[in-house]
Amino acid sequence: MEISPRDLNREQTYKLMVGAIVPRPVAWITSLSPEGRVNAAPFSAFTLLSQDPPVVLFQANRGLRGGSEPIEKDTARNVRLTGEFVVNIPNEDTLEAMHACSTPLPPEQSEPEVFGIALAPSQIVKPPRVAAAPICFECRLMQHFDIGHEPHTVFIGEVVHFYVSDAVQTEGAIDPNKLRPVARIGGPWYAKLGELVYLPVPKGPVAEVRPGKS
Ligand SMILES: Cc1cc2nc3c(=O)[nH]c(=O)nc-3n(C[C@H](O)[C@H](O)[C@H](O)COP(=O)(O)O)c2cc1C
Repeated sequence: MEISPRDLNREQTYKLMVGAIVPRPVAWITSLSPEGRVNAAPFSAFTLLSQDPPVVLFQANRGLRGGSEPIEKDTARNVRLTGEFVVNIPNEDTLEAMHACSTPLPPEQSEPEVFGIALAPSQIVKPPRVAAAPICFECRLMQHFDIGHEPHTVFIGEVVHFYVSDAVQTEGAIDPNKLRPVARIGGPWYAKLGELVYLPVPKGPVAEVRPGKS
């Protein structure tokens, strides 16, 4: 089946993309409102951009949330106004708490308070981290910009501090079998880690090797 984006409406395009770009890691983001209220919400349009300095990216769309005017999400507003956030990496133990934080609460309500999620102080930034999250990135906003017709705001942040629980490491490296990461699949589905496949890094030179040519 060949599909032109011009023949799809917004919903159909969204379903195709989130069904295809899987599994997606989830950034469970804690931020602070200018009034000092802690907010927590999951974002799976999330990835790494560079390691020198360490930089990550996430995207927040402006949802309609039952009304006709797009509304800026609390996370987006907080990060834009305060310039700081923490990416907490969820795992099997924290999956349900992370998912609960996608409930659209009004800005006056704090997800960690409403859902009883314990927090721990961060080392450098003001927003706290999720105490039970095995890995956390403290981030400072580097830049943000809007993209698309229904605006999506892209946030790029420098990681200024890492927290990695000893419980998820083996000989100083993150051990996926101890981390037990979770990923988002299209719709209301999540995936846990399946069988791991080990492929050594290919070695060059590759000049003589051309697929299909002998
Ligand atoms: C696993 C998961 C991933 C999500 N990823 C995104 C995302 O990448 N971008 C987005 O705008 N909303 C995403 N959402 C929806 C937000 O989490 C949801 O709108 C949330 O209520 C925002 O909270 P806030 O207003 O406190 O920031 C996701 C929801 C879930 C459950």
